[in-house]
Amino acid sequence: MIFDEYTIKSLIRPVPDFPKPGIVFRDITPLYHSPRAMRMVADSLIQRYVESPVTHIGAIDARGFLLGAVLAYELNKPLVLFRKVGKLPAETLCEAYETEYGEAHLEVHKGALGEGDQVLLLDDLIATGGTFLAAASLIKQMGAEVYEAAAIIDLPDLGGSRKMQDADIPVFTLCAFE
Ligand code: PRP
Ligand code: ADE
Repeated sequence: MIFDEYTIKSLIRPVPDFPKPGIVFRDITPLYHSPRAMRMVADSLIQRYVESPVTHIGAIDARGFLLGAVLAYELNKPLVLFRKVGKLPAETLCEAYETEYGEAHLEVHKGALGEGDQVLLLDDLIATGGTFLAAASLIKQMGAEVYEAAAIIDLPDLGGSRKMQDADIPVFTLCAFE
Protein backbone atom coordinates (compact mmCIF):
# COMPACT_ATOMS: atom_id res chain seq x y z
CA MET A 1 0.00 0.00 0.00
CA ILE A 2 1.36 3.44 -0.99
CA PHE A 3 1.87 5.86 1.91
CA ASP A 4 -0.50 8.83 1.64
CA GLU A 5 0.56 11.64 3.96
CA TYR A 6 -2.62 13.62 3.31
CA THR A 7 -4.80 10.73 4.57
CA ILE A 8 -2.61 10.22 7.64
CA LYS A 9 -2.65 13.91 8.57
CA SER A 10 -6.41 14.15 8.07
CA LEU A 11 -6.83 11.43 10.72
CA ILE A 12 -4.83 13.28 13.38
CA ARG A 13 -7.26 15.47 15.30
CA PRO A 14 -6.14 18.79 16.81
CA VAL A 15 -7.65 19.29 20.28
CA PRO A 16 -7.03 22.84 21.57
CA ASP A 17 -6.19 23.43 25.23
CA PHE A 18 -5.58 19.79 26.18
CA PRO A 19 -4.21 18.83 28.67
CA LYS A 20 -3.42 22.47 29.51
CA PRO A 21 -4.47 25.86 28.10
CA GLY A 22 -2.35 26.86 25.10
CA ILE A 23 -1.45 23.32 23.99
CA VAL A 24 -2.83 21.92 20.74
CA PHE A 25 -2.99 18.20 21.43
CA ARG A 26 -2.49 16.03 18.32
CA ASP A 27 -4.85 13.14 18.91
CA ILE A 28 -3.99 9.93 17.02
CA THR A 29 -7.06 7.95 18.08
CA PRO A 30 -8.89 8.59 14.76
CA LEU A 31 -5.83 7.18 12.97
CA TYR A 32 -5.96 4.03 15.11
CA HIS A 33 -9.63 3.77 14.26
CA SER A 34 -8.77 3.29 10.58
CA PRO A 35 -7.29 -0.14 9.77
CA ARG A 36 -6.29 1.11 6.30
CA ALA A 37 -4.39 4.11 7.68
CA MET A 38 -2.75 2.04 10.40
CA ARG A 39 -1.65 -0.49 7.82
CA MET A 40 -0.11 2.38 5.81
CA VAL A 41 1.82 3.57 8.86
CA ALA A 42 2.95 0.10 9.91
CA ASP A 43 3.88 -0.95 6.35
CA SER A 44 6.02 2.17 5.79
CA LEU A 45 7.95 1.53 8.97
CA ILE A 46 8.33 -2.19 8.32
CA GLN A 47 9.61 -1.46 4.81
CA ARG A 48 12.10 1.08 6.16
CA TYR A 49 13.62 -1.26 8.77
CA VAL A 50 13.18 -4.76 7.37
CA GLU A 51 16.70 -4.86 5.89
CA SER A 52 18.28 -2.75 8.67
CA PRO A 53 20.76 -3.95 11.33
CA VAL A 54 18.19 -3.22 14.09
CA THR A 55 18.46 -5.85 16.84
CA HIS A 56 15.77 -4.59 19.27
CA ILE A 57 12.60 -2.50 19.22
CA GLY A 58 12.33 0.05 22.03
CA ALA A 59 8.76 1.20 22.67
CA ILE A 60 7.85 4.26 24.74
CA ASP A 61 4.98 4.31 27.26
CA ALA A 62 2.16 4.53 26.33
CA ARG A 63 1.37 5.44 22.76
CA GLY A 64 4.69 4.09 21.49
CA PHE A 65 3.68 0.61 22.71
CA LEU A 66 1.05 0.35 19.98
CA LEU A 67 3.50 0.75 17.10
CA GLY A 68 6.31 -0.98 18.98
CA ALA A 69 4.40 -4.23 19.33
CA VAL A 70 3.50 -4.30 15.62
CA LEU A 71 7.09 -3.63 14.55
CA ALA A 72 8.56 -6.17 16.98
CA TYR A 73 6.15 -8.81 15.68
CA GLU A 74 6.69 -8.07 12.00
CA LEU A 75 10.49 -7.67 12.23
CA ASN A 76 10.71 -10.60 14.67
CA LYS A 77 12.82 -8.63 17.16
CA PRO A 78 12.81 -8.44 20.97
CA LEU A 79 10.63 -5.66 22.39
CA VAL A 80 12.03 -3.48 25.19
CA LEU A 81 9.57 -1.33 27.15
CA PHE A 82 10.46 2.19 28.31
CA ARG A 83 7.88 2.93 31.00
CA LYS A 84 6.72 5.83 33.10
CA VAL A 85 8.04 5.64 36.65
CA GLY A 86 6.83 2.95 39.05
CA LYS A 87 5.43 0.52 36.48
CA LEU A 88 8.33 -1.88 35.90
CA PRO A 89 8.62 -4.51 38.65
CA ALA A 90 12.31 -5.49 38.60
CA GLU A 91 15.45 -3.38 39.02
CA THR A 92 15.41 -0.34 36.74
CA LEU A 93 17.47 2.52 35.36
CA CYS A 94 15.65 5.85 35.56
CA GLU A 95 15.96 9.15 33.68
CA ALA A 96 14.16 12.42 34.41
CA TYR A 97 12.92 14.61 31.55
CA GLU A 98 10.59 17.46 30.66
CA THR A 99 7.83 17.48 28.05
CA GLU A 100 5.53 20.11 26.54
CA TYR A 101 3.23 19.94 29.54
CA GLY A 102 5.16 18.67 32.52
CA GLU A 103 7.94 16.73 34.14
CA ALA A 104 8.26 12.96 34.05
CA HIS A 105 10.57 9.98 34.60
CA LEU A 106 11.23 7.11 32.23
CA GLU A 107 12.43 3.67 33.34
CA VAL A 108 13.76 0.53 31.72
CA HIS A 109 14.68 -2.82 33.23
CA LYS A 110 18.40 -3.09 33.97
CA GLY A 111 20.10 -5.44 31.52
CA ALA A 112 17.29 -5.25 28.93
CA LEU A 113 19.93 -4.16 26.41
CA GLY A 114 23.67 -4.52 26.15
CA GLU A 115 26.77 -3.70 24.16
CA GLY A 116 26.34 -4.04 20.39
CA ASP A 117 22.55 -3.78 20.44
CA GLN A 118 21.05 -1.45 17.81
CA VAL A 119 17.70 -0.14 18.96
CA LEU A 120 14.85 1.20 16.87
CA LEU A 121 13.00 3.54 19.25
CA LEU A 122 9.29 4.11 18.57
CA ASP A 123 6.75 6.61 19.77
CA ASP A 124 3.74 8.36 18.26
CA LEU A 125 5.01 11.94 18.38
CA ILE A 126 8.03 14.22 18.89
CA ALA A 127 7.34 17.51 20.66
CA THR A 128 10.22 18.81 22.82
CA GLY A 129 12.13 15.57 22.28
CA GLY A 130 12.48 15.11 26.05
CA THR A 131 10.97 11.61 26.06
CA PHE A 132 13.07 10.26 23.18
CA LEU A 133 16.22 11.86 24.63
CA ALA A 134 15.55 10.23 28.01
CA ALA A 135 15.08 6.83 26.34
CA ALA A 136 18.26 7.37 24.30
CA SER A 137 20.18 8.17 27.47
CA LEU A 138 18.97 4.92 29.11
CA ILE A 139 19.98 2.99 25.99
CA LYS A 140 23.46 4.54 26.13
CA GLN A 141 23.79 3.74 29.84
CA MET A 142 23.32 0.04 28.95
CA GLY A 143 26.07 0.22 26.31
CA ALA A 144 23.65 -0.05 23.38
CA GLU A 145 22.98 2.40 20.52
CA VAL A 146 19.93 4.08 19.01
CA TYR A 147 19.76 3.00 15.36
CA GLU A 148 16.96 5.49 14.73
CA ALA A 149 14.11 7.16 16.62
CA ALA A 150 10.87 6.92 14.64
CA ALA A 151 7.49 8.53 15.20
CA ILE A 152 4.31 9.18 13.25
CA ILE A 153 4.26 12.93 13.98
CA ASP A 154 6.87 15.67 14.31
CA LEU A 155 6.02 19.05 15.83
CA PRO A 156 9.12 20.90 14.47
CA ASP A 157 8.20 24.23 16.07
CA LEU A 158 8.84 22.66 19.49
CA GLY A 159 12.41 21.88 18.45
CA GLY A 160 12.57 18.25 19.59
CA SER A 161 13.61 16.60 16.33
CA ARG A 162 16.33 19.25 15.86
CA LYS A 163 17.59 18.71 19.42
CA MET A 164 17.72 14.95 18.84
CA GLN A 165 19.65 15.32 15.59
CA ASP A 166 22.05 17.70 17.35
CA ALA A 167 22.59 14.89 19.87
CA ASP A 168 23.45 12.54 16.97
CA ILE A 169 20.22 10.58 17.19
CA PRO A 170 18.90 9.80 13.70
CA VAL A 171 15.21 10.75 13.45
CA PHE A 172 12.46 9.55 11.11
CA THR A 173 8.89 10.85 11.12
CA LEU A 174 5.98 10.23 8.75
CA CYS A 175 4.39 13.69 8.92
CA ALA A 176 4.71 17.08 10.58
CA PHE A 177 2.43 19.81 11.89
CA GLU A 178 4.04 23.28 11.82
C1 PRP B 1 3.50 12.10 24.64
C2 PRP B 1 3.89 11.38 23.37
C3 PRP B 1 5.39 11.25 23.53
C4 PRP B 1 5.77 12.53 24.26
C5 PRP B 1 6.34 13.53 23.33
O1 PRP B 1 3.39 11.19 25.67
O2 PRP B 1 3.25 10.12 23.24
O3 PRP B 1 5.75 10.13 24.31
O4 PRP B 1 4.56 13.04 24.85
O5 PRP B 1 6.69 14.71 23.97
P1 PRP B 1 8.17 15.24 24.09
O6 PRP B 1 8.78 15.11 22.73
O7 PRP B 1 8.01 16.65 24.54
O8 PRP B 1 8.88 14.41 25.10
P2 PRP B 1 2.83 11.57 27.10
O9 PRP B 1 3.96 11.96 27.97
O10 PRP B 1 1.71 12.53 26.93
O11 PRP B 1 2.30 10.18 27.64
P3 PRP B 1 1.24 9.08 27.12
O12 PRP B 1 1.85 8.41 25.90
O13 PRP B 1 1.17 8.17 28.26
O14 PRP B 1 -0.05 9.77 26.78
N1 ADE C 1 2.92 15.08 23.62
C1 ADE C 1 3.58 16.23 23.85
N2 ADE C 1 3.00 17.26 23.19
C2 ADE C 1 1.93 16.73 22.54
C3 ADE C 1 0.94 17.28 21.69
N3 ADE C 1 0.95 18.57 21.37
N4 ADE C 1 0.00 16.44 21.18
C4 ADE C 1 0.00 15.14 21.50
N5 ADE C 1 0.91 14.58 22.30
C5 ADE C 1 1.87 15.36 22.81
